[in-house]
Amino acid sequence: MTPDDLMFKPGILAGERILVTGGGTGLGKAMSEAFLMLGAEVYICGRRGGVLEETADGLMSAHGGRVIPIACDIRVPEAISDMCDRIWADGGALTGLVNNAAGNFISRTEDLSTRAFDAIANIVFRGSFFVTLDCGKRWIAEGRKASVLSILTTWVWSGGPFTVPSAMSKAGLNVMTQSLAVEWAPKGIRFNAIAPGPFYTEGMSARLNPGATASNYGEMRGNPMGRAGELRELANMAVWLMHPFSAYVNGQTIAIDGGSWNAGGGAFTTLRDWDDAQWETAREMIRGANSQDRAKRTV
Ligand code: HXC
Ligand code: NAP
Repeated sequence: MTPDDLMFKPGILAGERILVTGGGTGLGKAMSEAFLMLGAEVYICGRRGGVLEETADGLMSAHGGRVIPIACDIRVPEAISDMCDRIWADGGALTGLVNNAAGNFISRTEDLSTRAFDAIANIVFRGSFFVTLDCGKRWIAEGRKASVLSILTTWVWSGGPFTVPSAMSKAGLNVMTQSLAVEWAPKGIRFNAIAPGPFYTEGMSARLNPGATASNYGEMRGNPMGRAGELRELANMAVWLMHPFSAYVNGQTIAIDGGSWNAGGGAFTTLRDWDDAQWETAREMIRGANSQDRAKRTV
């Protein structure tokens, strides 16, 4: 990204210290890059240490600043605690956490083993909660303000057939967002979430849309805008939600999906494919039915 990709002025996140789980790749990397470019210190974690280091080095050589890679499996509470010890020792409390790490794959639900369910739920549902809990305890003990942003999906509203462990886990995080927004607001900790629609990333494509490319993904999924989201569009929304000026936004889950979720709910979404002749035919048929009814009216 370049400064022209961001709608915010330079330095607005100076003094912010943000952990992005899964920040080595995909959406997490894009959000980390935006935070860094706007002055934050950024910690990124994931299980593949080499990927994290490569991302951190790449971002720092492009933009300067500090990105600190920490190999951590968020399924392991002790590893989370060690990571937070390192972060707090490195420069004090975090000011923000982005729960972005996830695992997912498409499968018929009847084909899932219990281990397959756990493979997703242990990352998304349990792991994200454990990171939130560890950071939250520290913030509360120290009387710190903080912002927690969780990356969900629009499946938290629509359900997610063929991705049931993910949809169930993300729905759990949605309820965590709503619950802790209230419980911890008096302590200065706020919670929001972003529900992205389709954004092309290698991690997502490999597990959910084999064969997708950055250019055909939105079209493949029937997005009303006919395209996937751009990483900078998501990154700008994340910056806004992490900045102190959005401090009164609390407990919200905001979709960024080109209208995809709304389109799924309407009974007539596919009518957008009709041409003028089809609309004219339909109008004539409706008029015909109306005039027959009118002819039978007695009042
Ligand atoms: C059925 C499957 C499966 C599949 C794995 N399993 N893949 N079952 N269909 N496609 C089963 C295995 O057989 C095994 O069960 C169990 O799951 C654990 O598998 P492992 O490979 O040992 O798991 P692990 O190494 O822990 O890897 C976790 C993972 C992997 C989730 C399976 O994909 C991963 O590391 N993903 C991280 C990145 C990622 O998924 N990114 C995509 C996020 S995109 P048995 O019983 O055989 O032992 C996203 C987009 C959402 O979330 C919205 C889009 C619009
Ligand atoms: P991605 O690149 O595969 O990102 C997932 C990240 O999570 C990886 O960096 C991965 O790193 C990390 N991760 C997985 N398991 C972990 C664990 N146990 N501990 C620590 N880190 C772990 O895919 P993405 O598309 O950018 O997805 C990012 C987020 O956006 C996810 O929450 C996803 O559900 C959400 N989302 C994506 C889309 C989309 O269209 N792309 C749409 C809606 C929501 P390691 O493998 O190195 O651990």
